[in-house]
Amino acid sequence: MLTRRQTLAIAAGSLAAACSGLPARAGTESLQQLAARSGRRFGSAVGAGRALTASLADAGYRDLLIRECGLLVPENELKWYALRPDAETFNYAPADSIADFAREHGMGARGHTLLWHHPRWFPAWAEGHDYGPRPASTVERMLVDHIEAVVGRYGALIDSWDVVNEAVDADTGALRETPFSSRMGGPEAVMDLAFRTARAAAPGAQLVYNDYMSWEAGHETHQAGVLRLLEGFRARGVPVDALGVQSHIGSGNTDDSEGFDTAREDNWRRFLDTVVGMGYDLVITEFDVHDKNLPPDPALRDAAVAELGGRYLDLMLSYPQMGDVMCWGLCDRYTWLQNTWLRADRLPKRPTPYDADYRAKPLRGAIAEALRKAPPRAA
Ligand code: XIL
Repeated sequence: MLTRRQTLAIAAGSLAAACSGLPARAGTESLQQLAARSGRRFGSAVGAGRALTASLADAGYRDLLIRECGLLVPENELKWYALRPDAETFNYAPADSIADFAREHGMGARGHTLLWHHPRWFPAWAEGHDYGPRPASTVERMLVDHIEAVVGRYGALIDSWDVVNEAVDADTGALRETPFSSRMGGPEAVMDLAFRTARAAAPGAQLVYNDYMSWEAGHETHQAGVLRLLEGFRARGVPVDALGVQSHIGSGNTDDSEGFDTAREDNWRRFLDTVVGMGYDLVITEFDVHDKNLPPDPALRDAAVAELGGRYLDLMLSYPQMGDVMCWGLCDRYTWLQNTWLRADRLPKRPTPYDADYRAKPLRGAIAEALRKAPPRAA
């Protein structure tokens, strides 16, 4: 059952899509060209699930990336669990193929992520590894070596790094512990070292703390935890330039979430105002609009997704500190949301700007409109 609020949002979405959001109105300009008007870049993650290079091998997806993007981000290939089969080895080949593709087509790239500070996403070997008689200094060495190696290899291409990802527990607002932090004197020590090492290795790059606190009701504790973390970085003089707002909006991204569009815009503005007030820039790092709990009709879903997505981007782009805009996948054929938090009716989801056959959907139009009218980014 839809709530009255959801029904209204969907009706408003249909109207908005019918009247304005369709790609035809956006002319032939690419999303990258539209983003460039206000001094920003537009891009996407490449790949989906664990089959990242499958999407690079897919000519339809490649064409879409080439047509729309000025920026790419490897969806999984730079994560420790993908890059580090064990404590000694680096498996660069998959990330290299994305870097080569970006260079070949004159695109830039973002780096995701030098440290996914979340125990669930550490490589399996990290917990049981023998760190020797002085575990703290072993972990320190491993982290520094990793960051220097990865940033060194891709530094000429990648000018913005998600140095640390998801350190704040969304339920409690506390910092997570990981196999590294428990050996190295706590989460702050690991994160501070990561940022300081990244700054030394890439002095000109934008260094980002990235997380999924969002504008829906229920995210207040997460937001408060992120603000405490950002304050701590400033107090300790840690070189962090921007907050990466993942922007997985929509159905709430949990198994028990019911609603769609439970946005609390005033609260969200206060959060963003506090972040920029501390001198941080903003980046949209992983935008998609989850349609898990919307009715089955694709037209209704597409309209509601476009309406919510457009409203969200308008708000975000009203901040001059807001920089690049990244989708977490450009087409419904390759989105991580197909593999997780399944719909009750098991229908494929429609959370990205292009459908599974690479046809533009109303969300593409909504992104184009938001970029077209975005006020300029601060120099
Ligand atoms: C996801 C990928 O899309 C999946 O393919 C993978 O299995 C798990 O990670 N927040 C992040 C991203 O920072 O790295 C996540 O990507 C999505 C949520």
